[in-house]
Amino acid sequence: MSSLGTTYMGIPLKNPIVVAASTISHRVDRVRMAEEVGAGALVISSLFEEQIQMEQQHFMEQLAVGSESFPEALSYFPSIAHGEASEHLMWIEKTRKAVRMPLFASLNAVSPGAWAHYARQLEATGVDGLELNVYAVATDPDKSGLEIEKELYEIVESVKAEVKIPVAVKLSPFYTSVVNVATELDKRQVNGLVLFNRFLQPTIEIETESLHNEMVYSSAQELRVPLRWIALLYGRVQADLAITTGVHSGQDAIRALLAGATVVQVASSVLKNGIPFISTILRDIEGWMAEKGYSTLGDFRGRVSQKNCDDPFVFERAQYVRLLLSQ
Ligand SMILES: Cc1cc2nc3c(=O)[nH]c(=O)nc-3n(C[C@H](O)[C@H](O)[C@H](O)COP(=O)(O)O)c2cc1C
Repeated sequence: MSSLGTTYMGIPLKNPIVVAASTISHRVDRVRMAEEVGAGALVISSLFEEQIQMEQQHFMEQLAVGSESFPEALSYFPSIAHGEASEHLMWIEKTRKAVRMPLFASLNAVSPGAWAHYARQLEATGVDGLELNVYAVATDPDKSGLEIEKELYEIVESVKAEVKIPVAVKLSPFYTSVVNVATELDKRQVNGLVLFNRFLQPTIEIETESLHNEMVYSSAQELRVPLRWIALLYGRVQADLAITTGVHSGQDAIRALLAGATVVQVASSVLKNGIPFISTILRDIEGWMAEKGYSTLGDFRGRVSQKNCDDPFVFERAQYVRLLLSQ
């Protein structure tokens, strides 16, 4: 009988399948179902920096009410929706009470700022860990890659300083050197690295000649990018590695574990196939382990990482050259 138990960022999980930050967490019945069908843990959808800023602006509006001295302040701030950040916190508290599996909160940020205090409030909801997603589209021609990375480290340091629970960083695949950024984050004692954030790119509608945004689920083909970087990072950083993007089957999850993932996050495949699909993934992993005679994840995790490969160059340029020349 094989055991799927694992430890992610110091938190024991009954298996490595984690529901990724997504709309699945928007309904408590869905979160409960994810637990019932066997999910090892779940990441609650993000609290966005913009939501926090809105709430802070509203607070300033409140301070200005009744003030004779700065009546113009009332018209300075546009009418805004508010309360979203505190509603998000209440939502997490409600979800925390509904299930026993480990839960992670997610903070989605753009730049360093006072919003980082919210990490503490997220921690106070009783979540087991925090996932920090730093995502901005870099369009400033005067800002170098190094400056952008420094901002990332500043954000991570400020969030780490706020909380005692473990913190994972969800990375973009677009850094010039993913390994260098991962190493720098490792030095800052980040507990987990989540590879990779998936960007929703708009397309262009040719009839209306306008931008068109729609939610497109990932495909299994997209697994290859995070798979490669997990394989390259395994055994080279202290942080646990979580894979996200393109896990659409139990076989994909096995690939991720063989590359060296500690946990495997799933969103699109579960949204497409329904929450019980989690149990199919788990059954397929167990079946494969039984066939192979593996009793724990440790028996095979990282077996196909660069560190453990006979040909370490297989993940680098040599393979690419070989493949192109053979066509
Ligand atoms: C409907 C939906 C909502 C999502 N919401 C968030 C979010 O709030 N925060 C976040 O960091 N990622 C979010 N994601 C990204 C997922 O966590 C995941 O990284 C991405 O979908 C790639 O994994 P997949 O191939 O399993 O879908 C969302 C994805 C989907 C499909």
